[in-house]
Amino acid sequence: MAAIWYRQTGVSLVVLWVFLLSLFSAIGAVKHGDFKKCDQSGFCKRNRQYADTAKATANSWASPYKLDQPTIKLQNGKLTATILKSLEDSTELVKLPLTVSFLKSGVARIEIDEEKRQKGLIELRHGSKVRKERYNEAADWAIVGGLDLGAAKIKASDKTQTVVQFGPDYTYEAYIYHNPFRVDFMRDGKVHVKLNGKGYMNMEHWRPKIEKPIEEVKEGEVKEGETKESEAPAVEPSIDESTWWEETFGGNTDSKPRGPESVAMDIAFPGYEYVFGIPSHAGPLSLRETRGGGDEKYDEPYRMYNSDVFEYEMDSPMTLYGAIPFMQAHRKNSTVGAFWLNGAETWVDIVKSKSGSNPLSLGTSSSIDTETHWISETGVLDVFVLLGPSPKEIIKTYTDLTGTTSMPPQFAIAYHQCRWNYVTDEDVKDVDRKFDKFNIPFDVIWLDIEYTEGKKYFTWDKQTFPDPLGMQKQLDAHDRKLVAIIDPHIKNAAGYHVSDELKSKDLAVKDKSGDNIYQGWCWPGDSHWSDCFNPTTRKWFEGLFKYKSWEGSATNTFVWNDMNEPSVFNGPEVTMPKDNVHYGGWEHRDLHNINGMTFHNATYTALLNRDKVPKRPFALTRSFFAGSQRLSAMWTGDNQADWSHLATSIPMVLSLNIAGYPFSGADVGGFFGNPSSELLTRWYQAGIFYPFLRAHAHIDTRRREPYLSGEPYTGIITKALRLRYSLLPVWYTAFYESSKTGAPIVRPNYYVHPDDETGFDIDDQFYIAGSGLLTKPVTAEGETKVDVYIADNERYYDYFDYSIIAGAGEDHTLDAPLDKITLLMQGGHIIPRKDRPRRSSGLMKYDPYTLVVVLDSKGYANGTLYIDDGESYDFVDGAHIYRSFEFKDNKLTSDNLSTSGRKTKEYLKSMSKVRIERVIVVTAPSEWESRKEVSVLQDGKKTKTQLFWHKGDGKKASWAVVGNPGVFVGSSWSIDFS
Ligand code: GLC
Repeated sequence: MAAIWYRQTGVSLVVLWVFLLSLFSAIGAVKHGDFKKCDQSGFCKRNRQYADTAKATANSWASPYKLDQPTIKLQNGKLTATILKSLEDSTELVKLPLTVSFLKSGVARIEIDEEKRQKGLIELRHGSKVRKERYNEAADWAIVGGLDLGAAKIKASDKTQTVVQFGPDYTYEAYIYHNPFRVDFMRDGKVHVKLNGKGYMNMEHWRPKIEKPIEEVKEGEVKEGETKESEAPAVEPSIDESTWWEETFGGNTDSKPRGPESVAMDIAFPGYEYVFGIPSHAGPLSLRETRGGGDEKYDEPYRMYNSDVFEYEMDSPMTLYGAIPFMQAHRKNSTVGAFWLNGAETWVDIVKSKSGSNPLSLGTSSSIDTETHWISETGVLDVFVLLGPSPKEIIKTYTDLTGTTSMPPQFAIAYHQCRWNYVTDEDVKDVDRKFDKFNIPFDVIWLDIEYTEGKKYFTWDKQTFPDPLGMQKQLDAHDRKLVAIIDPHIKNAAGYHVSDELKSKDLAVKDKSGDNIYQGWCWPGDSHWSDCFNPTTRKWFEGLFKYKSWEGSATNTFVWNDMNEPSVFNGPEVTMPKDNVHYGGWEHRDLHNINGMTFHNATYTALLNRDKVPKRPFALTRSFFAGSQRLSAMWTGDNQADWSHLATSIPMVLSLNIAGYPFSGADVGGFFGNPSSELLTRWYQAGIFYPFLRAHAHIDTRRREPYLSGEPYTGIITKALRLRYSLLPVWYTAFYESSKTGAPIVRPNYYVHPDDETGFDIDDQFYIAGSGLLTKPVTAEGETKVDVYIADNERYYDYFDYSIIAGAGEDHTLDAPLDKITLLMQGGHIIPRKDRPRRSSGLMKYDPYTLVVVLDSKGYANGTLYIDDGESYDFVDGAHIYRSFEFKDNKLTSDNLSTSGRKTKEYLKSMSKVRIERVIVVTAPSEWESRKEVSVLQDGKKTKTQLFWHKGDGKKASWAVVGNPGVFVGSSWSIDFS
């Protein structure tokens, strides 16, 4: 409540404090009335009705879209044709050009446009100056590769269908049915993905507005051709025109100069019971059904319309801050996907039904089909069909298209300390000192909006931050960084250079007139928004980040982009009006979900270009779209200090990870409200496993830096953070590997065990990349035990005491008192870590490594380790170490995986003294008991070193330690245990 009040008034901090002290930490609930439900969003309602009509009249339903057979052409992997839409009230056929691109990767891309609009043969209403085409630039923002066309050939074609073979060795097939138009995608002789199988495809074509006289109908009177309500058919009329030309919500009227123009399609996954993806929503990883009817079902479709949802609720399909319209369907040993490339407001209905249209199979087949219905307000229809067949391949092909996460600087994956706000530069310095006093590691401290002069970004409040450079110098002494917030709204204030330039250079988003700068309300009060769709705006924006321009910024200053949905406190649904106009003449409605990405991409580029020799930037974004993962970390926005938010943060982060966005996390501790010490502690124990680890708190919460909790909490939190730091080699390697393959950094059970049906919907425990580390955080108050599900026959070992946990397909109850983190190691892995506690990750650069070798049942283990300088781009020129470790036949070897470049030699020299200081072998065979030594081979030299064997007790595994084997991390070597 306090925050709403603050948002709405934008009053000064002092007044705010007084008010807040009286209110302390009231936590409320989302204001449903601020956000549309499907039936308040005209195009969503219309398309749901369309689907209902199609369903209710299934026997007689004919989708009005037909492929015009003579127009079909297949050339160089691309099929083109025209779809004809027939109309109820006219003989005109609407021409919809179709392109199906069969990509080298095996992905098929289906694009459908509208000819009249392509050619500009439409009229706009209200004298609008916006573009006449359907928005067709989403791909320019989202797609960075993977579009090479592959081989495709027509297998058969007749009047009714055209069958195209494509994909690896032509093993995939697209059955394109002509009338009605629909496509079945086959792999291994089975249909995996169906487009328009239900006939929900709908491209609301352009039409002129015909003013109809308003007929007055008296109550109870029935007009000719109508039936009384009691006699009316069960089906609602298929076309509801009431929201075609104008729509009002919450007092805001949307002028819709182009009328109705939605695009929709049903996409079915026959035989697939589970669907995942389309983040961000606060709910389970396995997406729920959305058409009502039970506890496990929602009544509303999943919505994607990037929004500043104040106090968002749990287990809900409501939209949040970012959108990735990518879904995967999974069943035993097969994963397929659909990527609906559309930047406009989008809704997705999900229905699961028993398959078996054959009545003879009814009741005998337990197989489930998942049917989805995608509905977007505008744009061309552009959908990518991915045929897998594994989760790994799906994410690889998806990130070939939209990009992988760039290698972050190392500090970015360490611990970030944030709150709204550290109030002075002395405050920041004090926090920095206190962390040291309590021996708690941290890498980054953050400044929220109050550091600025009156919320004018690129300025400092001179009263409270008189010496930003001095402050950053102190941080730098321990290789620590500062992240400062830069939001996209720009205070409308004469004399503020950013605002003046924005206006004089004409770089802002315009209102619906297309001429006037849009004015709205955000943190600074009256504001404008820079239009980062405009290349000139981006160029200008870059200039603002130069050290000379942003005085007080330093080489260790990085940036947080917030409110970039964009959040507009007095706008419809807390954002911009849809009829606002962007660069290129596009309406805001066309590209709303992409807006946030343009801003954080610009920030990233600005940081990249501010130094002569570029260093890896770090930017955090709240709003995102498909492709955002390339350049920014994200967080899940304004959560609450509540157990349910802690629990839900895990499926949320997993969902982002499997949708190509690994660098994600939630505010540790919860943003709104004051967590109990227990909740805070448990949140740290979970948060150290988020790829992006940041504690953050609202301005009206009590201070909660970990050293303030008191014992035992401070000690337990410190231990958790040290665990994160000790495992940084695992995290850093995971980020490196993910930057190559797109693989998730935290992985749900189905991803790691794609054939284990029992574990498909498990989303409260997860693996860290390919390290074999499995964690299950405690997320309920007072809980001191956890049930960990083990999917496979491998043995697992407690990370700390090597207790054995084994037994496939079942839950294992483990003790989890407050000071215990449930972290298991799966047999078969080698885990690199650094065990010396330091103040920051930068200070660990030359620390020695420990290798934990966790043998599998066959006495085998392997792992990888990636190292570079943690900040520059020298790694591209070979300045890195990438090793593979393997334990086989009683021998541990380190082999080189890296490719060398011009900077390899110099880098290896700088790292030549970095040792492996310890090798721990978990589940060391009992034959080793009598062995006192192992032999080490490095650089052709053989040496002996001591082996210490420790007996297990049946419940705990035996283990052995090789202390200081004298091997180096950048060298090839072997240790022989036989
Ligand atoms: C938004 C952000 C939050 C930030 C606040 C003030 O609510 O989500 O993290 O602290 O704005 O900038």
